[in-house]
Amino acid sequence: MCGIVGYTGAQNAAPVLLEGLKKLEYRGYDSAGIAVMDQDRIEVSKVRGRIAALCEKTRDGASVPGCTGIGHTRWATHGAPTEENAHPHLSNDGRIAVVHNGIIENYIALREELLREGYHFLSETDTEVIVHLLEYYYRGNVRDALIKTANRLQGSYALGVICADEPGKVYAVREASPLILGIGLGEHFFASDVTALVSHTRSVIYLEDGEFAELSADSVRVFDCSGREIAKKTTRILWDVQAAEKGGYEHFMLKEIMEQPGAVKATIAPRIRDGKVLFAELEGLVPHLPSIRKIVITACGSAYYAGCAGKYALERLCRVPVGVELASELRYSDPLIDSGTLVIAISQSGETADTIAALRECRERGAATLAVVNVVGSSVASLADYTVYTWAGPEIAVATTKGYTTQVTVLYLLALFFAEHLYPDTFGLGRMAETVQTLPRRIQEAIDMNASIPALAAKYHRSPALFFIGRNTDYAAALEGALKMKEISYLHAEAYAAGELKHGTIALIGEHQPVIALCCNPAVMEKSLSNIVEVKSRGAEVLALTFRNNQKILSVADDLLFIPEVEALFSAAVEIVPLQLLAYHVARENGCDIDKPKNLAKSVTVE
Ligand code: G6P
Repeated sequence: MCGIVGYTGAQNAAPVLLEGLKKLEYRGYDSAGIAVMDQDRIEVSKVRGRIAALCEKTRDGASVPGCTGIGHTRWATHGAPTEENAHPHLSNDGRIAVVHNGIIENYIALREELLREGYHFLSETDTEVIVHLLEYYYRGNVRDALIKTANRLQGSYALGVICADEPGKVYAVREASPLILGIGLGEHFFASDVTALVSHTRSVIYLEDGEFAELSADSVRVFDCSGREIAKKTTRILWDVQAAEKGGYEHFMLKEIMEQPGAVKATIAPRIRDGKVLFAELEGLVPHLPSIRKIVITACGSAYYAGCAGKYALERLCRVPVGVELASELRYSDPLIDSGTLVIAISQSGETADTIAALRECRERGAATLAVVNVVGSSVASLADYTVYTWAGPEIAVATTKGYTTQVTVLYLLALFFAEHLYPDTFGLGRMAETVQTLPRRIQEAIDMNASIPALAAKYHRSPALFFIGRNTDYAAALEGALKMKEISYLHAEAYAAGELKHGTIALIGEHQPVIALCCNPAVMEKSLSNIVEVKSRGAEVLALTFRNNQKILSVADDLLFIPEVEALFSAAVEIVPLQLLAYHVARENGCDIDKPKNLAKSVTVE
């Protein structure tokens, strides 16, 4: 899981590549490199560490002149994060350079074959087989060599290639990894993500699997895997350039937390008219709804927890059993999925390898598939029968915030939409749609009413462990709250269904152990109160998340976080906001690298 960029035009390539790589650093950041072609010579510069180190080494690109180049930021899969393993990789004759995002599954066999042919390997990467294969097949025509090479590769790859015999040309190849072309005036680009392109151009072409592009300063040609030239549609990116920048905030994560009222509004606004939920993109699914016997939600990480939160609304309103399955488990579980199942795959990036594989498995078993995705044109979006976009805008911080809240919101909307079609006479659907419409405002209120969070973070940031408890919808929000805390602050945080405390976790509760108790669901409020009393009587310090007027909880808790009152079925999208802020401020107190937590990456394209 890595980020790649490419440039050809009239500017010096290296500064453009470095700037693009900075935007892609969220995809991996353990080593980086660029290869720049000057006339008919390729110069490579690589570092272990972040793009800042590469900028320093190349004097912001000045030491690597030339107007054509490719770049890479790495998240190690095959081989440690060293300079040797960093991309770009060069052919043995030094005439071809390659950057790669993805995994070559048959690289061991290819490596042995190439070793027998006399090629030398300098790295432990799977990628290096690609550049040697290209050299092996190259007979004066890069396009032909690319087609022959691609035919030999199994796995996923987005590639950038330059060849010293073709000055001014950059090649980009896509197979199961994201790749976008940027169309400029007298210059062309490619990148793993549009965020690396928007400061240069808003005209882009999304490559599909099996396609490759030949870019020069004044032309863009796209070919299919047999080498036949194909016409591609140019899409205009409507995002504000600012949306991909920090906009005055100290971290992307904080900016993205603050963007949630707007992001959730963008998710909802086009989909509710006169108290009814509308999804034009799901018209084809509507006639099949009555034959759906169960819904399976599958995802990874926070997207999985979004599924856990959305399950309550879907089950309650649609009266269909809803299972929420981790994608990495579902695919190996011989799942009971058939044509009577609707599978909802949730993914912010749309590129999570396990989610893609689970979705494929479910399709093969005959399920109808619906993707809830943020990144337009991503793999999950193209695989599913139906796609609903979350419209959260670019999310850069590795730990998701607006990605999660918009996913949960889409599930609320889907629950209402399905219910309107399955049981049009159900009382109160219009009122519930109105409640969902108030979520952006309530999220803003939840941000505004918790000014004490930095002080609470200062109080709790040294705790070796934090327990999050809740019941029902509160439990779903607790799962994501604990994940946020551990991802960015590195504190041990564990979410527990409050009723399960007495079956184990309570053994860990002692003097001054912080317990974060979510109490926003009136149906289980009394029970939650009992659980607070249980942990308090064992010495715990309770930080309760509840409504301002909830006197019972206010009187027993040591500290408080607030949300405005929201109907429990739809409250997880609001409850999570103070918990995101708490995790953020705890991580800040602990001096953590908030936007790029250690060992994590935003887009997990390995299984
Ligand atoms: C990584 C990210 C998480 C995200 C998960 C699933 O672990 O750090 O924030 O929830 O992947 O990603 P997806 O793009 O499929 O939602």
